[in-house]
Amino acid sequence: MESGPSVAGLEVFPRTRGFLYHWPKWRPTPFSERTVVVNPGVEIASKVSSLASRVQELMKAPGPDANAAVVTWLRDVEMAWSLVKDGSVAQLGPHATSADNLRLAARVAVERLLQMPWVSGETKTALNGYLERHPAARQVGRYQFSSDWMSKCEDDWRKALAPLKGQPDTRALEIGSYEGRSAIWLLENVLTDASSRITCVDLFAAEYAQRFDSNIAASGAQARVEKRVGASSVVLRQLAPEPTYDLIYVDGSHQAYDTLEDAVLSWRLLKPGGVMIFDDYGMAQAQITPHTKIARPDIGIDAFLSAAADHLEVVLKGFQVILRKNPA
Ligand SMILES: C[S@@+](CC[C@H](N)C(=O)[O-])C[C@H]1O[C@@H](n2cnc3c(N)ncnc32)[C@H](O)[C@@H]1O
Repeated sequence: MESGPSVAGLEVFPRTRGFLYHWPKWRPTPFSERTVVVNPGVEIASKVSSLASRVQELMKAPGPDANAAVVTWLRDVEMAWSLVKDGSVAQLGPHATSADNLRLAARVAVERLLQMPWVSGETKTALNGYLERHPAARQVGRYQFSSDWMSKCEDDWRKALAPLKGQPDTRALEIGSYEGRSAIWLLENVLTDASSRITCVDLFAAEYAQRFDSNIAASGAQARVEKRVGASSVVLRQLAPEPTYDLIYVDGSHQAYDTLEDAVLSWRLLKPGGVMIFDDYGMAQAQITPHTKIARPDIGIDAFLSAAADHLEVVLKGFQVILRKNPA
């Protein structure tokens, strides 16, 4: 494909499908060169964070016009949705998360607004209408998901995990499972042998724990999923301290220190030759907006890569990082 001009490390490609540009593979850009880039995903990310700030202010200090301000805010949320047209999200690449953030953040805000004593009956009707039009989760085949953090990495995973596909007794460990989307992808595409299993570590908060359970049940692979509830800093220390896993996916807390701790604690559990994947290495770059202060898993990942450099091979450094532990 012909490439367009380069803007702050992102190449803008000619329009191909609909209104969206193609997102090229993420490449690191020195911080000094990073600027806010006009890209549909960034536009959504920026809108979501400004909508979130507005509603927070409104809830903190509701003035006499607060009900009118809620209705205007709701109209702006609906307008932000118009940027997330059907079928467009997968093409947003790393920015798909921004569209999911709209779904999650707006819903949480609407639910909180409905609890506010100053919200009028008419405003409540408008807020409830929003909840009906934008359900928490959508049906994806047999499953119910509210987010899609998986499709952006499918191609890379297919390549990197090809040697594990269909192998008997393959063991995977996932830190951060949420509604089970990535775990199910692994079960359906890599851990396909009946003897292969996955251990899912997550806080499993009430809002999504039930969806995780019903999705895993719908996958038909329930017997091959071990669910470990709790903070990874606790649970990882409880797992047998020996190289057990062929694959580890680190996608739990995105705070730099927590990501580093997850990497260090799970590294001992990875077999020689095993694969470790980190999500959201490129998140800081992909979501830089004037409003957002975001977690920085990349700082924890870089620290780990430096400390363990002699013991691993970096297979991919893009929006995600994929590495292979050196053979024994
Ligand atoms: C981005 S979601 C994981 C998404 C999932 N891997 C997928 O692609 O479908 C992050 C998950 O990490 C979990 N999490 C956050 N902090 C955690 C911690 N300290 N220990 C365990 N899980 C944590 C959250 O509860 C959330 O479900």
